[in-house]
Amino acid sequence: MLLDGFGRRVDYLRLSVTDRCDLRCSYCMPEGFKGYEEPRHWLSFDEIERLLAVFARLGLKHVRLTGGEPLLRKNLPDLARRLAALPGIDDLSLSTNGTQLAKHAARLHGAGVTRLNVSLDSLDRERVRAICRRDALPRVLEGLEVARSEGFHLIKINMVAIAGTTDEDICAMVAYCMERGFVLRLIETMPLGETGRGIGFLNLRPVRERLRQRFGLVDGVVPGGGPARYLVSPDGGFQIGFITPISQHFCATCNRVRLGVDGVLHLCLGQNDAVDFRTPLRSGCTDAGLEEMLRAALNSKPWRHEFSERPQQMVRFMSSTGG
Ligand code: GTP
Ligand code: 5AD
Ligand code: SF4
Repeated sequence: MLLDGFGRRVDYLRLSVTDRCDLRCSYCMPEGFKGYEEPRHWLSFDEIERLLAVFARLGLKHVRLTGGEPLLRKNLPDLARRLAALPGIDDLSLSTNGTQLAKHAARLHGAGVTRLNVSLDSLDRERVRAICRRDALPRVLEGLEVARSEGFHLIKINMVAIAGTTDEDICAMVAYCMERGFVLRLIETMPLGETGRGIGFLNLRPVRERLRQRFGLVDGVVPGGGPARYLVSPDGGFQIGFITPISQHFCATCNRVRLGVDGVLHLCLGQNDAVDFRTPLRSGCTDAGLEEMLRAALNSKPWRHEFSERPQQMVRFMSSTGG
């Protein structure tokens, strides 16, 4: 079992397979972003598989594929199949913007990805265009329908709540998710990079209480390893999660770290602490050496983010680790 320096069990890895994206969501990435990682620095599938096998021997259980937009990485289902086969990994999931889902859903499901989280901030085409700076809504909705029909039973919709998101926007999304059996999650914006800081924050605490009353929701549990706290309808038919890093943070129960496409392990979403694994992977480090490095890295995992106390300190954009 891998424990960090505070005794938290770390068994969840968010694996970024590319830092590129076909959208430019205003809270995530600047419109004219150019600072992509060079392809020669991308970990290969062999390197990822080797590092995750070492991690899995130490107790890793959950792997979430992220980006940028992970479906832009060529042959992603091949990587998924290899990771799903690693002993110890019993949960392989994907966070995607959904624009390429119609094309890839069947192969991903066949490769062993069982859970999908899809970003969708509004059902209004113009509003999506304004937030994502691309006309993405029709492709995302089509991708969701295809994913559902290809057998993905647990699909979560990630709706980032920004200043300007109204109760009406949220209720429209509630109706959409209820109809299709999707789990809805509302997310508070985090100040990563100047884009994440510029978007305007909506406190979800009062929103949660209004929704609880309006739909008669009660506390509930939904499969997943992340920080959402859920409310469910009394018949269990509808589930809504709240991800509240600002109004009610969850760092005391943190179970995760993030591996960038360049092989750098980020120890906390809200801190700059990181350890490079690409260099040892490419210079003959043994599995025992990697294991030792992982233990040492985990031991230096920060206790918590400081989004409220030091909002300016995060230089990384959300897109480099995919959340
Ligand atoms: P599951 O619970 O396993 O379904 O996944 P998840 O909700 O952790 O993953 P997803 O990629 O859908 O992330 C949803 C939101 O939660 C994104 O905005 C993430 O940045 C945020 N999030 C995920 N993990 C953490 C975390 O450790 N700390 C903080 N502050 N935010 C996180
Ligand atoms: N704050 C909160 N959530 C964000 N996401 C991207 N940028 C931010 C931010 N600054 C969300 C995306 C995606 C998830 C993985 O992270 O909308 O659904
Ligand atoms: Fe964990 Fe850092 Fe996220 Fe807090 S902000 S839950 S410590 S990754």
